[in-house]
Amino acid sequence: MNLGSDQTGMPETNYLQQVAELGEMQTVVCTEHIQSVDGARLLPKGAKLNRQVIKHLLNHKLLKPIDLTTRIEDAVDQQTLITLGRSLMERDSEMGTLLRMMRGEKFVRQSCARVHLEPPIQNKLTVAQKLHPELLEHSLRVMLAVTVIGEQLGLSEQELEVLATAGLLHDLGELHLGIVDLPLEQNLNLEHWQQVRSHPIVGAMILQQFPAYANHVARTVQEHHERTDGSGYPYGLNGTAMSRTGRLLSFAELAIGALKKYSLRQLSNIIKSNLDALDPQPVGVFLNALRQFQTQITVAPSEARDENIVSLFKLVAQLVSSAETISESFKSTPGSIQTCLLGPVVGNIHQTLRRAGFDLHNTEATLAMINNDQETFIELEELLMESVYQLRKALLEMERHNGGRDGDNQAIIRQWVADAEQHLDTAANLLS
Ligand SMILES: [Fe+2]
Ligand SMILES: [Fe+2]
Repeated sequence: MNLGSDQTGMPETNYLQQVAELGEMQTVVCTEHIQSVDGARLLPKGAKLNRQVIKHLLNHKLLKPIDLTTRIEDAVDQQTLITLGRSLMERDSEMGTLLRMMRGEKFVRQSCARVHLEPPIQNKLTVAQKLHPELLEHSLRVMLAVTVIGEQLGLSEQELEVLATAGLLHDLGELHLGIVDLPLEQNLNLEHWQQVRSHPIVGAMILQQFPAYANHVARTVQEHHERTDGSGYPYGLNGTAMSRTGRLLSFAELAIGALKKYSLRQLSNIIKSNLDALDPQPVGVFLNALRQFQTQITVAPSEARDENIVSLFKLVAQLVSSAETISESFKSTPGSIQTCLLGPVVGNIHQTLRRAGFDLHNTEATLAMINNDQETFIELEELLMESVYQLRKALLEMERHNGGRDGDNQAIIRQWVADAEQHLDTAANLLS
C-alpha cells in the first residue's frame, strides 16, 4: 500500500483523505498556499479543503504537513474534552467509579487543563472526533486513567502534564496509517499487523515536530504498547529501558483495554494474578484505589451468577481440551510458535485450577465439590476469569504470529482461534 508522505516522511495520503472527508462536514480552510516540494502551488490561501479539491494534493509530496497549512473551524479544544469527560463519567459506570474516587468533575476539568494542545494537533483530534469518535473516547479514557495513577503516585505537575498530554495523543499515529477501524481482536494480515506495530512510532514522529511535545511526550507515546516484561511492541523494551511516564501509560492502556471486556472487580483480580508482568507502581495505586471502593464492587450471591460460573467452567474445560489436542498434534513440528504458546498456557491453567482443587478433566467431580458453597464459587470464578484472560492473551499472540502465513497447521490454528474467540466472547458475557 502506498501511504504517500509529506516532506518529513510521514505517511500522509490516508490522513489527507480524512481531512477532505471532514471538509464535507465543517469548514477546513487553507491558512497559507499549499505547495508541493518542487514549488508548485496546489491550493491558494483561503481555499476550502473538501473531496472536490483533494485530488490536487494526493499525487504530490507536500512541502508542509497538511495540519500546518490548514485550520479547522470549531476544532476540539479543552472545553470539548471536559464535556466529553463529563459525559463519560455519567454513562460509564467503571470510569465513573474511577473518577469519583478522585474529585469527580473537578478532576476531569483539571486533567483536561493539563493537556497541551498545539493547533495542528487540535486538527487531528477533530478528525478523530468527527470520523472516529470511538478513538477520541478511548484516548480520553486512557488520559483520565493515567492521570488518576499519576496523581495517586504524587508525580510533579510537570510530569502530570506529560502524562495527560501523552495519554490523550497516544493513538494519533493510527490516523495516518488508516488502521483506526481495524478490528484488532481478529486475525490481522501481515501488512496490517506491521501497521499496528508502527503506530506508536508514527505517533511519536508527529509529536517530535513540536518543541512542546519533543522528548518527553513523544517518548511516552512511543512506549505506550511496550510491556515491563519485554513482551510489548514496537521495540520489546523492558521496564528498565522505559521512561516512568511510558510505564504508567502502558499500564493505563492495558487496564482501559481490559475494561472493555471485564469489570473493575474482575480487572483487579486479573492484575493480582499477573503481578510479575506489570509495573508494581501503577498496580499498587490501582489496587489501592479499588480497595477504597470495595463496598461498591462487591457482588451479592445469586443463583443466576452461580449457574453462569458452572457454564463458564464447562466452556473453559472445552477450550482447554481442544487446545491440548492441537498442542499434542503439533509436537512433531519443533519450534512451531503455536505449540510453544498453547502448551505452557494450557499447562498453567490446569495447574492453577488443580492447586485449588478444581479439575478441568473432571467436570462432575468439580461441580459436586462446590456444592453451592459461596466461597468456593467465588474462588472458582476468579480462577476462571484468570484462565479466560490467559487464553485470550495466547489467542491474540497466535493471531499476530500467524498473520500472513499459510499451511496445514495454520489452517487448523486459524479454526481454533475462530472457535476460541467465539467461546471467549460468550465467557466474557457470562462474567459481566
Ligand atoms: Fe495504541
Ligand atoms: Fe490506545
